[in-house]
Formats: sequence, C-alpha cells, structure tokens
Amino acid sequence: MHQDCERILLTQEMIARRVAEVGKAVDAHYAGKTPLIIGILKGSIIFFSDFIRLLTCPVELDFMAVSSYGSGSVSSGNLRIKKDIDRDVAGRDVIIVEDIIDSGFTLANLKALLSERGAKSVAVVTLLNKIGRREYEIEPDYNCFNIENEFVVGYGLDYDQKYRNLPYIGILKRSVYEK
Ligand code: PRP
Repeated sequence: MHQDCERILLTQEMIARRVAEVGKAVDAHYAGKTPLIIGILKGSIIFFSDFIRLLTCPVELDFMAVSSYGSGSVSSGNLRIKKDIDRDVAGRDVIIVEDIIDSGFTLANLKALLSERGAKSVAVVTLLNKIGRREYEIEPDYNCFNIENEFVVGYGLDYDQKYRNLPYIGILKRSVYEK
C-alpha cells in the first residue's frame, strides 16, 4: 500500500468484480443500440477504460473536461467546459462515465446540458457515489459503490493530481492534505 494511504477501501479484486457486474447490466440494456460514451476527464479514465471493454454492443467514445464555478442553481451556465465533445449528441443514446458523484453539481449540469443538446437518452454510470454529500438532484443510473465522506484516491482519483495510477482505491492520510 502507498505510504500516503491510511487504508485500502476497495481492492483491485473488489473493483474488478463490481465493475464487471455493472458493465454486464449496462451491456444488456444497450443491446441493439450504439451508445455514445462520454468520459469526464480526468478522474474517470481508468474506470472508463475497464468499463467500455465489458460492453459487447458497438460504442462510440468521446471526452469532456469540466470544472465548476462553485455552488449555485443548477444550470449549465455554472459549469465551465474546458474541453467539449467532438460529436453531435442529437438523437443519440448517451452514457456519461464518471469516477465520483459528490455534491452532484457536475453531473446534474452535464445531464441537463446534453439533454438540451438533443440527446435521445442520457444515462449516468459512476464508480463511486458519496451519498451523504448530495446538494443537487441527481442519481446515477448505474453505480458501483456507495461510499462515506472520505478522501479517496487511486483508480483514477487524485489529490493534487497525484495517486491516479494506484490500482486500488485508498483512503488518504489526513496528514497529507492537512499539511
Ligand atoms: C471530480 C469528479 C466529478 C466531480 C464530482 O472532478 O470527477 O467530475 O469532481 O463532484 P460534484 O458531484 O461535487 O460535482 P474533479 O473536479 O476533481 O476533476 P478530475 O476528474 O480531473 O480529478
């Protein structure tokens, strides 16, 4: 285990097993369709790459990078798009892939934005769901793990851009982010 982690919350095996279950459920739902799968940079990259390889339906891939201006009412105006998708979403079945839902701000806004752009359907697939932290009305269509309000890193998730490459999800030591 990395020295900056207090403990491992989700092992590689736990993640692989649960991601496979969720991937199978999503795959069954999209049989006969060609969803446009949008990964939200950067946290989702590891989950995204494992998840898409579980799908047997044809898929198209795209990416967005966003950041928030802080809290406020739910509107796409509060979400800053740093990198937009290249594809037109009109009439498409869209699957947004995220690493974590915290306040719900990012996904509530993203879902509204993609619907406004004319997507036929917008589903949210997330690796982690911090259920106790929700401030905006958004629930994932598919979620791998509910977690408590802990500082998690690894499997794509960072602290100060570090730890994304850890193969497991660990809880960061307080001393790392409180110094
Ligand atoms: C994280 C995560 C979500 C968002 C969730 O991204 O990937 O996009 O925060 O928080 P919310 O539910 O309160 O909106 P972050 O801004 O840390 O960027 P990163 O993915 O590049 O690490």
